[in-house]
Amino acid sequence: MRSTNTQLVSPSAQGISITVSSKRLRNYAAVERARIRILAGWFLRIGDYELKYVLAYHLYEASEHTTWIRERLKEMRGGNPNASIRPDLAQFLEKTLHAPSDTEFLKGQYGVLTSAMLTAIHNDVKKMDTSANANELRLLNRIKNDLIEQVAWYKTLDLDSEDSDWSSYIQSTLHSIGGIHGDEARMPSPPSHSLLRFERPSTLHFDSRIQIGELKSYEERAQLDREQATIEQFKVFFNEFYAAALLASILFDAAENEYPWEFFADFSRHFWDEARHSEFGAIRLRELGVEPDRVNLVLYEESQDLPVLHRVTYLTRGLEAYFMPRKPVRMKEYEENGDFRSQLFADQDWSDEINHVRYGSRWINFLLENDSREIEDIMDEVKQHLSAVRKVDVQTIEAPY
Ligand SMILES: [Fe+2]
Ligand SMILES: [Fe+2]
Repeated sequence: MRSTNTQLVSPSAQGISITVSSKRLRNYAAVERARIRILAGWFLRIGDYELKYVLAYHLYEASEHTTWIRERLKEMRGGNPNASIRPDLAQFLEKTLHAPSDTEFLKGQYGVLTSAMLTAIHNDVKKMDTSANANELRLLNRIKNDLIEQVAWYKTLDLDSEDSDWSSYIQSTLHSIGGIHGDEARMPSPPSHSLLRFERPSTLHFDSRIQIGELKSYEERAQLDREQATIEQFKVFFNEFYAAALLASILFDAAENEYPWEFFADFSRHFWDEARHSEFGAIRLRELGVEPDRVNLVLYEESQDLPVLHRVTYLTRGLEAYFMPRKPVRMKEYEENGDFRSQLFADQDWSDEINHVRYGSRWINFLLENDSREIEDIMDEVKQHLSAVRKVDVQTIEAPY
């Protein structure tokens, strides 16, 4: 007897051709890729540090989604993942960056853009044939699950109660281009919004909970009793915001360049790791009865206007190399003290760091292709820059804490 699996077949799904589904996947990749730059920019700008952590998680999801889609596109006939996207979609995505405030940014970014992407995926999934489109279905369902969580998180912020000029503007602009795929009925373009231009911040913005100040030096921390020393160490973890900020600036600035996708994938991961390391600080400080309240941003502020190559070199070969020898020592101390929670975070941090060195080597080599300079020359140029900023001669890369 012939067996049929009726559960697999949805009668309303006619299926989507390779030509159409690859076009749609390219639109989704364009959205997710644009969101990497937008979320990196707003990670720097948004004041609430806990929202910064959420944006960092979403940035990494956008990067993973882009990677998955690109992999599938490469397998599809005519699915070139680097094909250019519709200019009106690119312009629309760019507009969502220039929100007038933190709240308006969230409304435009999640209330409109992310929600529209989720709806579009939902509609595509409904049309797909479970067998013919099985590859796209698996991929889109994974992305859909992440976006459902992102939109659910946005709804918990309860920002949609008031009318917003900005989100109506973004929504109308999206209608005017026929939605993400450009195939919905088009409405006339809304009158242009008085666009404030978003500038990539040269410092990290924080709300009033976080003050700018000094952290205890490594030597000072060594003099403290165990509990105080642990608290001060987790303040340094919290301060890994500076490293996340440098990576956000790299992702933001490099988005204009024709670098291979893997550059953005690696640095999205590196960025997310550093944001998580800062979060380790926030979590552990609270467990120890201390509210995070301080950052020292000097390492970001002094170097954020260097070229991308110099920022990558300074961070991965300079600062991370400077902090590296402390990591195994600290892990061992926590272990000997039976401080499992601190050890857990120090362990993950140390493990992530090994990848960061690898990303650094890979992309410094790439950026130095066809360049007569060596990595040592770049580091010398970084030191010259720091000497000029600090007005003292900088011979070695060090941190004040
Ligand atoms: Fe780190
Ligand atoms: Fe790192």
